[in-house]
This record gives sequence, C-alpha cells and structure tokens, in this order.
Amino acid sequence: MKKRIPAKTNKQRRRLLQSIAAAGIVLPLAPSSVLARKEQKFGNPLILPPLAEATRQGNQLSFNLSVAASQTEFFSGLKTPTLGINQSYLGPVLRAKQGDTVTINVTNKISEITTLHWHGMTLPANMDGGPHQEINPNQTWRSRFEIRQGAATLWYHSHAMHQTGPQVYQGLAGMFILDDKASESSDLPKDYGVDDIPCTIQDRRFNRDGSLSYMSQMPDHMMGMMGTTMLVNGVVRPVLKAQKTLLRLRLHNGSNARSYQFAFSDERPFYVIAADCGFLARPFKTKSIHLAAAERAEILLDVSDKKQFALISLATQNAAGMGGMGMMRMMNTNKQRLDIMLIDARQAQPSKHRIPVSLPVASNPALDPRKAVTTRQFELEMGMMGRGGGGPMGMMRGMGGGMMGGNRQGGMFRINGKSMDKNRIDFQVKRNTTEIWKVSNASPMAHPFHVHNVQFKVLDRNGKAPHPTETGLKDTVLVNPNEVVRIVMAFPEFSDATMPYMYHCHILEHEDQGMMGQFVVV
Ligand code: C2O
Ligand code: CU
Ligand code: CU
Repeated sequence: MKKRIPAKTNKQRRRLLQSIAAAGIVLPLAPSSVLARKEQKFGNPLILPPLAEATRQGNQLSFNLSVAASQTEFFSGLKTPTLGINQSYLGPVLRAKQGDTVTINVTNKISEITTLHWHGMTLPANMDGGPHQEINPNQTWRSRFEIRQGAATLWYHSHAMHQTGPQVYQGLAGMFILDDKASESSDLPKDYGVDDIPCTIQDRRFNRDGSLSYMSQMPDHMMGMMGTTMLVNGVVRPVLKAQKTLLRLRLHNGSNARSYQFAFSDERPFYVIAADCGFLARPFKTKSIHLAAAERAEILLDVSDKKQFALISLATQNAAGMGGMGMMRMMNTNKQRLDIMLIDARQAQPSKHRIPVSLPVASNPALDPRKAVTTRQFELEMGMMGRGGGGPMGMMRGMGGGMMGGNRQGGMFRINGKSMDKNRIDFQVKRNTTEIWKVSNASPMAHPFHVHNVQFKVLDRNGKAPHPTETGLKDTVLVNPNEVVRIVMAFPEFSDATMPYMYHCHILEHEDQGMMGQFVVV
C-alpha cells in the first residue's frame, strides 16, 4: 500500500535530511522493506514519559500502575502489539524523595504472570518485585517501602521467571527517579522535560507487519536479543529539540542485551555526573561512555553552540575488553555505528546552570573494603561443559546442541556451575554487614552482573582501578571475558530467612536461561 506524502512534509523532510547531512550524520543504507523506508525519517519528536500521578500525604506517596496489552504506532500506519504500564509501551516515570514511603499498587491486566521489580532499590525482599512476587492475571500486588538511598536514576521492569526477556522486550519497563535534599538544592539542571531529559535507549527488531520479532534467529539465544531499530523512550529515530543550552540527559540502557559506547556525532565532549545509583564526586569530562544493559549514567551536555548533531553509539573493533580472536570477535555485536537520536539545539535558550566543580555525592562509610566480613566468588559461565568448558569450544558444542530448542533447565547459562533454581537458596548473607564479591567471567562474551537490594562500589578490574565513570554507586557492573571484577557492598538491616534477592546477568535472555542465583539476608 502506497501512502502519499503531503508536499509540506516532504519539504520538511528534505530540510531535515539536509541538516542531518550537514551535521555529518550517516543514514544507513536503505533496505528494501517498507519498514526500513518508514524508519528513514529520523524526524519523530522525542516523547518524554509522563511523571506518574501520585497522591501524597506528608511522606506517604502512592502510585497506581496497571500492566496491560495494547498497540503502539512506532511506524506511521503500522500497529505493533505491545505491553505497557499505564500507557501502550513502557511506563510513566516514578519519582520519589529520600525519606518518602512509597506504596505502589500494580494491577496485572495481561493474560500471564508478571512482576514489577524496582531495579537499584534497597528494600525488604518481599517488596522487591522479583520472580517470587508473582502477580497473577487480574490481581493487584501492593509494594510498600521506604526510600532510604540518595538521588539516582533507577528503573523498574518485569522480572517474571523465564519471561523477563519477552515481557521487557514488549514494553514492561520504566524509569524511577530518586531525589534527595542535596540534589534538590544543587545547581544542576532539574526541570523535568525542559533541561532534565530521561532517555531510555533500546534496540528492537520488527517484522514487516510491524510486530516485534523476538528470539527468531540463532544468535539471539546465545548473544541475547539484539535489535536493528533504535528507540528512545519508545520513539524510532527521534529528534530532541533542546530548550536550554545545558542539558542533563539521564541515559538508561533499557536494552535486553546490547551494550553501547555512547558519543555524539560531532565528537563533542560531555560531562558524566552520575553512575547507576548516584553522583560521582566530580563531573568527568569525556567524549564517550560505555553502558551495558541495565546501566545508567547522567550526563551534562553543553549545546550553547546551537548546532544539530546526533547521539550515536560508536562502532567498536572489539566489544570492551574482548580479545581480538575468532569467537570473541564474532561475538562483538557493535561493529557498526548506530545513530540513535538527533539533537536540535538551534532554538535553545540560555541556561542559568553551569558545569559544577563538585557534585552532591552521598557517602556510605559501610562501603569500606576493610570492613568486609566475607569475600565471595562468582564465576559466570556459558556453554555445554562444566567449569572451564564455557570457552569457545564449549560454546560451539552448545550452539549445535539441544539448547537451541529452548530447554531452560539445560544449564547453558550458569553462575558457579549452577543454573537458576527458584527453590534453591544459593547462600545467606548477614544483615548489617559489608561483603566483597569477586566476579569472574569464564565465557567469551561480556556479562553485566547485577545485584538486588544494594548499591555497590567497584573496587577493581583485574587489579586495576575502575574507569572514572564507574566510580559512583552502582548496581550493575560489566564483567569482560577473562576479567575478575571486585565489588564491595553493604547489606541493610532488613532480613527474611525465606524470601530471597536475586543476582544475575542483566542480558535478559541469559537471565531467563539460568544465569541467575538467589541469596537471603538473615
Ligand atoms: Cu533489573 Cu534482577 O533486575
Ligand atoms: Cu534489580
Ligand atoms: Cu550474560
């Protein structure tokens, strides 16, 4: 079916294409499908998720979320079946302050079990929204907890057992912004949607009819689900019209599996101000930042030159830290540059904010490695063999084996030799203690390792100090092949001998296939 494009739109489009060319932005070659042609436009206005409506009484804040199936028009004239939270795809931004007690009522209106997990939050295990807090169809789950941690860009997403990948892929995720007194009185841009911009970045693959394609190709099972279309806040090839000359972007890698090396098309520098769970001590100036699945970073971006340029992901020779050899090179999925979002600053108004010298970083004296009472070891493995067999040969055997049939108990993805078992508690942690976790990777691809209930500090990678962008509090850390990453974390006083917290790879297809374990705090 051909659709006539009105002349005006055509002219606007040509102008946009010209300015894109002027900005040095490379459009990908046009594949022949209708979808690819629709994708060319690169002119959809960026949509900002609404702030979730809340009722507040003093420190008591309450939200109502409803998970439902719907349709979303990512490409004009094509309806894509999606899942969403209070909207057709993704969810509203939840926002709360340190010291608030939040109540979140989550109603499940889809036909399968779901959950909503508050990623990055310190809270009692039964409020976490992990695989044990199942919400059956037509049921409402009430999560209630106190916000004890400082300002950060957290998020929330489905964590249904074996279904996290497909449910998040279809749209069950959103951002959860925390504020504290120091961040509120700071001089940082904080006018939501004006100079403080949430950016949930995802890659998706669409069929010609507009429907989402999931786990339809061989590598999806091993590498995790990688898409070919980039979305920001659910918008394909969006344009962000900058209203101010200094922007704070909350970059959130909401992808199922893909890592990015974010940069700008004109190589302009920017300042990283926060990691997953809080501010750095001071802004770090750089031209690119690596974010693995589930990681977040807040950046300050100066657009006072009022230009047009794009947020991109750089092509990498080898994914971060991967060796250059055979299988590892094959597993580099970022061989091509990705154009993600056009930023048009031509109309930006002067900002009253400046790049600060220092940041309102929250300190946690419990995160002193000398206080650690235990050091635990975690080995991430993929492949058919046991310990040591997760290397290229084990992988090859695995790819030819029964795993492709989708056997989830088959044990292709393991931590310390074991695949996730909901009925097995892997270890106990003592409340109010500090621990060091040593995470190593015996597989040929990088895995983002995530721990529930804590904000940790990265101590070192193979004995070397972490990158400056990783010096803030974190809840997810990338572990490259042949790397040992040490992290230090402190457990609060909540305890529950039967209800576990999860730790897992945040490549959702790896998690769903077993690269996950559980611990209780006693
Ligand atoms: Cu973002 Cu266990 O999850
Ligand atoms: Cu989590
Ligand atoms: Cu993984």
